[in-house]
Amino acid sequence: MKGTPLNEATYNYIVDNFATEEAKLLELMQGRAAEAGVPMIMISEEQAKFLGMFLKAIKAKRVLDIGTLFGYSAAVMANAIGPDGEVVTLEYDAKHAEVARHNFKHLHIENISLLQGPALDHMKTMADSIFDFIIIDADKPNYQNYLKEGLRLIKNGGVIAGDNAFAFGLLTESIGADNPDYPNVLAIREFNKAFAAEDAMFSAVVPVGDGLLMGVVSK
Ligand SMILES: C[S@@+](CC[C@H](N)C(=O)[O-])C[C@H]1O[C@@H](n2cnc3c(N)ncnc32)[C@H](O)[C@@H]1O
Repeated sequence: MKGTPLNEATYNYIVDNFATEEAKLLELMQGRAAEAGVPMIMISEEQAKFLGMFLKAIKAKRVLDIGTLFGYSAAVMANAIGPDGEVVTLEYDAKHAEVARHNFKHLHIENISLLQGPALDHMKTMADSIFDFIIIDADKPNYQNYLKEGLRLIKNGGVIAGDNAFAFGLLTESIGADNPDYPNVLAIREFNKAFAAEDAMFSAVVPVGDGLLMGVVSK
């Protein structure tokens, strides 16, 4: 094995030393989500810190967040890009959207627009080349559709990211069709392949959280 595999102690070290604000924000946001029965399938705290740092590095101002859940990734990115930037976040589930809206209001985060409904429908109504950064983190079978539409919506030089590149730890495991994760794992495997083969992107896998694919787009 090359490199150093992440264990729990190292993960905690990273959060304690580099992601204390992100951990605090998550604590503030997940209470209401847990009460409402929203699943805890958000990005991890160290991933949140990485995204914030990255958005600052590329000076992103317009961000598209596909899959809101209770608003954690959107809030992290909205804080990183500052009040003169905007995060557009897309969520299908009415309950998730309501909890996210409550969280944004409670935290006084005003630079987020939440659009409820199927993400792909909303994306299809948007103009070309309007985002500096797009993160795909919703229903896995649609990932390739989000990538296709994302390539239209991203600016030249912008970055597209896809979460769960490691398929919940199952990427390289042999799993049967009877496993409930099977369709999602298959979709992720196909997405990873398509992402790596996309001529318009120079891409890499960043091993934060469940694996983040990232590609800078040339148009
Ligand atoms: C993994 S969660 C997103 C986590 C969020 N990005 C974060 O890290 O805080 C995926 C979300 O995508 C939503 N979703 C599933 N299918 C969708 C669709 N077709 N359009 C929009 N959202 C969808 C789910 O309801 C869920 O809230």
